[in-house]
Amino acid sequence: MAARLLRGGPVAEAVYAELREELARLPFVPSLHVVRVGEDPASVAYVRLKAKKARELGIRSQVHALPEDTQEDALLALLDRLNADPEVDGILVQLPLPGGIRTERVLERVDPAKDVDGFHPLNVGRLWTQGPGVGLDPCTPAGVMRLLAHYGIPVAGRRAVVVGRSNIVGKPMAAMLLYADATVSVAHSRTRDLAGLTREAELLVSAVGRPGYLRPEMVRPGAVVVDVGISRVGDRLLGDADPAVAEVAGALTPVPGGVGPMTVAMLMANTVRAARRRRG
Ligand code: GUN
Repeated sequence: MAARLLRGGPVAEAVYAELREELARLPFVPSLHVVRVGEDPASVAYVRLKAKKARELGIRSQVHALPEDTQEDALLALLDRLNADPEVDGILVQLPLPGGIRTERVLERVDPAKDVDGFHPLNVGRLWTQGPGVGLDPCTPAGVMRLLAHYGIPVAGRRAVVVGRSNIVGKPMAAMLLYADATVSVAHSRTRDLAGLTREAELLVSAVGRPGYLRPEMVRPGAVVVDVGISRVGDRLLGDADPAVAEVAGALTPVPGGVGPMTVAMLMANTVRAARRRRG
């Protein structure tokens, strides 16, 4: 039997509907500033999408496109300016950054109150020690949690396996599932008997970025599979899950059209949240 498809589009639309109502009641217009360094084609596309979505919602958005050879100090100076500007509510630095720039230094420079990516160590620490919703939370795992809630998928008490330990997805995903009372394992490239572990998962989140690596024999029959991997192969977008996973899983997020739309929706939600908190 084919897995139930957990589509992100309708869930993202529900988030946007809530945000439109909220924005209509606000006595100010929130603003989002997206910083991009260099011309990585995927980053160019993502940044364009984020700015466009913000404009559609009536959030002011500005893209700061810096040349590939930008020095770290110049980027930090831009962040200082945005941090100091009271009209700026949200700041996002698109990753990855060019080789000469130290990502940690940049992420630590963003005012935590404007850190709509949730990557500043203060927000990371708040997520792990106080739980989601206290600081600003990373958008992709927050989108996964919202998607699961929308489709009524229980998390508490379930065995969850997250494959991937990145700061953007794997680690914050584990924190959020833990706060939702799942029993969480985090697997990675050095995990022994990965298939043995993933087959235990009732909820399997894959954030690897290698198309088709998640084979059907790695999935417990009936499991909920969340595919966060998005790889561009030619002109196609492919997830981590081999197509045959849909024959084994009970539910599956498609690629494209699964988690992807949720990430942008949660970025908009974070921007509105940051603006409301900052402006009282
Ligand atoms: N690159 C890949 N994913 C992300 C993300 O969620 N935020 C930023 N800033 N860069 C990314």
